[in-house]
Amino acid sequence: MKKICFATNNLHKLEEVKTILGDRFEVQSLNEIGFKGELPETHETLEENSLEKAQYLFDKFQMPVFSDDSGLEVVALNGRPGVHTAHYAGDRNAVKNMDKVLSELSPSDSREAQFRAVVTYIDNSGVYQFEGIIKGTVASEKIGEDGFGYDPIFIPEGYTKTFAELSAEVKNTMSHRKRSVEKLAAFLNKLN
Ligand code: IMP
Repeated sequence: MKKICFATNNLHKLEEVKTILGDRFEVQSLNEIGFKGELPETHETLEENSLEKAQYLFDKFQMPVFSDDSGLEVVALNGRPGVHTAHYAGDRNAVKNMDKVLSELSPSDSREAQFRAVVTYIDNSGVYQFEGIIKGTVASEKIGEDGFGYDPIFIPEGYTKTFAELSAEVKNTMSHRKRSVEKLAAFLNKLN
């Protein structure tokens, strides 16, 4: 079975990705390949950070690798928090991050937003990027208990509930991550 490293130690992400890629690939986490420490993320776009992480690992381990980088992009905020999504309010505090986004939007502003994920896959044949987008709107307040990050303020297109009110099953059918990894899966299936 072809071994591929996914640049994460997040078990939730790992399971989600394993399900999408299927059992033709052995997806290994950073722990499983013996990587310790932090991956570099020094740029101002999701594309560059995703590439930087995958390239760093490929150079070090010389095996097929992929990484993902994702963020919330709000139209009225010129795409912010974007690449700064994880620590928009200064640290990794989801409530503070969401409150910052809500406070920056005035009542007349468009609520249009999207989650975007960029996956970078690298093997000996080259470097490939895949994008996944879920469009929606920013809710007027935080609603719902489930999920993580900005889920309580994101209402996906076609729904009236936030990601935090929808079940994980429903969310995972349409998430930006799912859409980007599905493109990777289609690519890998053609490659092999
Ligand atoms: P990462 O690139 O997957 O680590 O995501 C960066 C940040 O985006 C996370 O820390 C979350 O705050 C936010 N984020 C990414 N995906 C989601 C999601 O599906 N729901 C809510 N927030 C998300």
